Order: sequence, then structure tokens, then C-alpha cells
Amino acid sequence: MASSLALIILSVVMVMAMATSKAEGARAFFVFGDSLVDNGNNNYLATTARADAPPYGIDYPTRRPTGRFSNGYNIPDFISQELGSESTLPYLSPELTGRRLLIGANFASAGIGILNDTGIQFVNIIRIYRQLEYFEEYQRRVSALIGAARTKQLVNRALVLITLGGNDFVNNYYLVPYSVRSRQFALPDYVRYLISEYKKILLRLHDIGARAVLVTGTGPLGCVPAELAQRGRNGQCSVELQRAASLFNPQLVQMLGQLNRELGSQVFTGVNTQQMHLDFVNNPQAFGFVTSKVACCGQGPYNGIGLCTIASNLCPNRDEYAFWDAFHPSEKANKLIVQQIMSGTNEYMNPMNLSTILAMDSPN
Ligand SMILES: *[C@@H]1O[C@H](CO)[C@@H](O)[C@H](O)[C@H]1NC(C)=O
Ligand SMILES: *[C@@H]1O[C@H](CO)[C@@H](O)[C@H](O)[C@H]1NC(C)=O
Repeated sequence: MASSLALIILSVVMVMAMATSKAEGARAFFVFGDSLVDNGNNNYLATTARADAPPYGIDYPTRRPTGRFSNGYNIPDFISQELGSESTLPYLSPELTGRRLLIGANFASAGIGILNDTGIQFVNIIRIYRQLEYFEEYQRRVSALIGAARTKQLVNRALVLITLGGNDFVNNYYLVPYSVRSRQFALPDYVRYLISEYKKILLRLHDIGARAVLVTGTGPLGCVPAELAQRGRNGQCSVELQRAASLFNPQLVQMLGQLNRELGSQVFTGVNTQQMHLDFVNNPQAFGFVTSKVACCGQGPYNGIGLCTIASNLCPNRDEYAFWDAFHPSEKANKLIVQQIMSGTNEYMNPMNLSTILAMDSPN
């Protein structure tokens, strides 16, 4: 009786001690968004948007699929490494309990977008407002562990990554000819609408505690293997989707600047993933890639048709490909992108790069 009580007290003390060292050590890390940053939430959902079968994960340390849309690590994994932390677990993982909560959590879900109607064909996915509700639930759980004040400190000091927007084009506006949204909006008006809805999401994220947020733009949507296969002419990037990305990204940067001015603080940092990816597209050899057009895993032209499955073509050396599947970068490309996030110039990171952010103490 007495010894088991002592054991309980001892373990409570240990959890508190670890909580202290975590709160004062590495920053927590929270991830929101779509398949570019999902590290396995969709494994727990009844949806077709999933990456939990081989050959996904073929280069992951376990050599097994994890739900990441990559042959190995994805962008959040490499950011965690920069923070000196383990990868964050998917929020729906049953293993995300106790002190593991203090590392952070990944709320992302493949298929989602800025708009609630994006990705409806995937049925059961965690839309962005639901991801934000889960973040609030997370904070209640952590409060029960370390108290409300320390939880607030952990959240305010944390790094946050949010990746949205690509699916609002690929899996909504351009999903089918004459889609509902394309009949409702001309492209420039649709982009303005997306930006105004994104602003609401980011304000909500700030309201619930985020103070250092990396916001990625869309990649060069028209140059992914899927679009080269379906829309591109003779290996040229799809003009329509390139136009979408080139309208969206500058307006996103402008909106982030406006938000920072309204908040009186550099809360939001724009990540120019379009330029990072265009660098691969324009000069793949400079990055050690043999191609930035053909996906490593897939079938049809550019390996850009259909899904990456065990029956697909699979390249022997994944590091030679900028694209792992028809839409998602390879582990090697993810690693290069995170290097730019860390130390890129203003052209890539606006207003500052991650090493600068981490060197500052984030205000409340
Ligand atoms: C999307 O859904 C959330 C609630 O889930 C709602 O608050 C929000 O207004 C919706 N957005 C639009 C544009 O309808
Ligand atoms: C980005 O990070 C590096 C440190 O890695 C720093 O020296 C450099 O000045 C930064 N660049 C910009 C443009 O902020």
C-alpha cells in the first residue's frame, strides 16, 4: 500500500521533472495541414487518402509504411531534427500520451484544404477547423499533466507549421471540368476567396496560442508528375495550375505581412515552397537529381497516373528523384526544402529563416 503510493508519487514527480526539462529545452512542435505534412493521422480514418501500404516508407528507418506520403521522412520530420526532438506523433495515435505530449503533435490530414468542401471525395478526413479543435483538446490534456500556466508557456513558445492550399486547386477547383467552385468563381476571384478564408484560419490559430508559425505556399502545382501526365503538353508544366500557384503565393505572403502588422508581431513566416521546388525543376542536377519530372513510384507518363502501389514502377535509388509519387516530394527533396527553411535568404523565407526564429525568444 505505502510502497505503491510512493511509486505513484515518484512517477508523478518524474513526469513533472521531465515536463520542466522539456518546457525549458527543445521547443514543442505542432503541425497542421494536408498530405505534405501528415505523418499518419489518416491511418486511423476510413478514407482513401492514405499512405499506409508499401512501397510508402521504403526508406524510413523501419522500412515500413507509416502514413507519411514519402519514401522516408517528410518535412515535419526534418524540422523536428533541427529542433533536436523526436518526430511528433499523429494526434490520433494511441501512443500519444503522457510525456510524449510535451514534444508536440501532428494534426495534419491528407486530402484537406483551406475550404471545408475541398477533398470531400476522401470522405473521412480531418478538416482544418477540426484540426484546430483537436489542438484545443490537446491543450486541455496537457494542462491536466503540467498545469494551465506551463501549458500556455509550452504552446506560446512552440514552433508551428501549417501547409494548406494545394488541394483547394487540385482536389477542388480543378478536380473535374466545370467543378462547382470553377463555375462559381473565376480563378483570380477564387484565389482571393481562398486567401480571405486562410486569414481566418491563421487568426484562429493565433487565438489559441500559436506565436511562431511557418506558413508554406503551394509548390509549382502545374509541374508535379500528375499534372505533367494529365495536362502538360510535351513535358511542359500545366499552364492553368502554374497560373493558380503564381496568383496564390504572392497574395499569401502579402496577407501574412498584413496579419503580422495587425498583430504587431512577426508571428507568421512565409515559406516560398514554390521557388524551392522550381529550383529542382529548373536544375535537377544541381541537387543530385536525375529528374524532377518523373515520379519514382507510379505508372503511365512521368509515373504520374494513379496511385503509388506495390504494383507500380519503383525507381531503385529514391535520392535521384525530386518526386516520390505523382504529387509528393521524395525524402531527399524534403531534406533540401528544410535546409532552405533553416537558412534560406529572404527570397525563400519571409521575413526570416528558421534559424533566426529559433535564435530569438518568442514573445507571448
Ligand atoms: C467551415 O467549417 C467551420 C466549422 O466546422 C465553420 O466554422 C466555417 O465557417 C466553415 N467555413 C466556411 C467558409 O463555410
Ligand atoms: C538565414 O540563416 C543564416 C544562418 O543559418 C543567417 O546567417 C542568414 O543571415 C539568414 N539569412 C537571412 C536572409 O535571413
